[in-house]
This record gives sequence, structure tokens and C-alpha cells, in this order.
Amino acid sequence: MAILDKHSILEKNVTLLAIFAFLVVTIGGIVQIAPLFWLENTIEDVEGMRPYTPLELAGRDIYIREGCYVCHSQMIRPMRDEVERYGHYSLAAESQYDHPFQWGSKRTGPDLARVGGRYSDEWHVDHFRDPQSVVPESVMPKYGYLERTLIDGQYIEDLMSTHKFVGVPYSDDMVENGREDFAAQADPDSDFDGLLERYGEKVNVRNFDGQAGISEADALIAYMQMLGTLVDFSTFTPVASR
Ligand code: HEC
Repeated sequence: MAILDKHSILEKNVTLLAIFAFLVVTIGGIVQIAPLFWLENTIEDVEGMRPYTPLELAGRDIYIREGCYVCHSQMIRPMRDEVERYGHYSLAAESQYDHPFQWGSKRTGPDLARVGGRYSDEWHVDHFRDPQSVVPESVMPKYGYLERTLIDGQYIEDLMSTHKFVGVPYSDDMVENGREDFAAQADPDSDFDGLLERYGEKVNVRNFDGQAGISEADALIAYMQMLGTLVDFSTFTPVASR
């Protein structure tokens, strides 16, 4: 065919081939990228999403510091085997307040995007102290020092301000009360009304590690227990099917 004959010109001339390849890639790139400039927001708003509480945020920092993302992903892909194992596939909105995001790229251990509420706090304490005591074949390292390391949220308000600076909607009220809220969430005997008022009634207020004082384990377990629990999937309908 005539058009295929012409194509042989391209195939025999490397400069021409490069120019046309460049053109094709440019057009493809524009088609993908240009619409994003006219969309106000590429993430649909989803009911239930809120910024992390100060204690959860501290736990998330520990998660990053310990490199948990090296073995764990936080991104359930919309494929049947994943959805059956882990629950509803992850929504973009569910990581909209993550800086940096924790999707991960390797699963030595299971995905953690919906681990919240799957186990008891005591299970997590035992598991961090000695993973093999609850899952004998586990290759996860021991993190017993987390429950022995006490923290007081000294820098939590700075951390929240930084997240606010990059777009997380922390109010001034949230930042100013960061340290109080941090302590209140780990102590069910405290006055935690303000915490619930700022972050919602569903916030878990417990002594997560079961020991006196606020430890890194308290923060990390608070973070684990909220993962994937904010959006109520019994009522959620994606925009496309509304
Ligand atoms: C060397 C890889 C590795 C690292 C690092 C690691 N894990 Fe794991 N993790 C695993 C494996 C493997 C399992 C599955 C066996 C088990 O439950 O211990 C697991 C299981 C888990 C589970 C239970 C998940 C479920 O649905 O059953 C949680 C929660 C967890 N890890 C949290 C963490 C946290 C938090 C950190 C960082 C402090 C961490 N892991 C670091 C490998 C790892």
C-alpha cells in the first residue's frame, strides 16, 4: 500500500524517524497532561477524609523513619484478588493528606492500606515486640524498642505547620492544640472532647500500648488503627456511578 511504502522512508532515515517519533510522543504527552491544567482538582472529594490527628501523624513519621514502606505497600489495586484480600481498592482521596505518599513499591509483607481495626491493639503490641510470636514464619524485624521509647510531641505543632504549609487543611485551632490533642488521644482518662471536636467522633482514644506514658508504639498503633477506616464504604459511591 502507498502509505506503507512511504513509511519505509522513515524506517531508512534515522533523523527523520527521530523527528517523527518526537512529534508523536509530544502529541501523546499533551493529550495526557493538558487537561490537568483545566481541572480544578484531580482528586474527588470523599466524605470522611480528615487530616491525621497529631498522634497519628507522629506514628506516620515513625513508620517512615523505620522504613516500613520498604516491605509494605499502602495501595490496594482495583483487581479482584487484591480487593478480596484487602478490601475496597484505594481511592486517590485516601492519600491526599500524605506527604510523602506511602504507596510503596514492594510487598514483602501485606498491604497495610486497610489494616485499621483488623487486629486488636494488643495484637499490634505483641507483633511489634516479636512478630514471630504471632506469625511464626514472619520475616518482619522486631520493634520492641518502640514501646520503650517515650515521646512527648515536643515538635508536633511544627510538624503540623509544615503539613499545613504544603496544603493539608489543619486549622489554626488544630495546630495550636497539637500537643494537647497528641497527649489526649493516648489517654482515655483525659479530657479529649476538643480532640473529637476537631477531628471527628470516630477518632480512636485509647492507651494503645497498654503501658503508662506515651510511647512510639502508642503513636504507631494509633496510625495503624486508623489506616483505611476514614471512608465509609457501605455508603460510598464513585462519581462515575452517581
Ligand atoms: C523486612 C520486611 C518488613 C519490614 C521492614 C516491616 N514489615 Fe511488617 N510485615 C512483614 C511481613 C513479612 C509480614 C507478614 C507476617 C507478619 O504478620 O508478621 C508483616 C506484617 C505486618 C503487619 C500485619 C499485616 C496484616 O494484615 O496481617 C503489620 C501491621 C505490619 N507488618 C506493620 C509494620 C510496620 C509498622 C513496620 C515498620 C515499623 C513494618 N511492618 C516493617 C515484613 C516487614
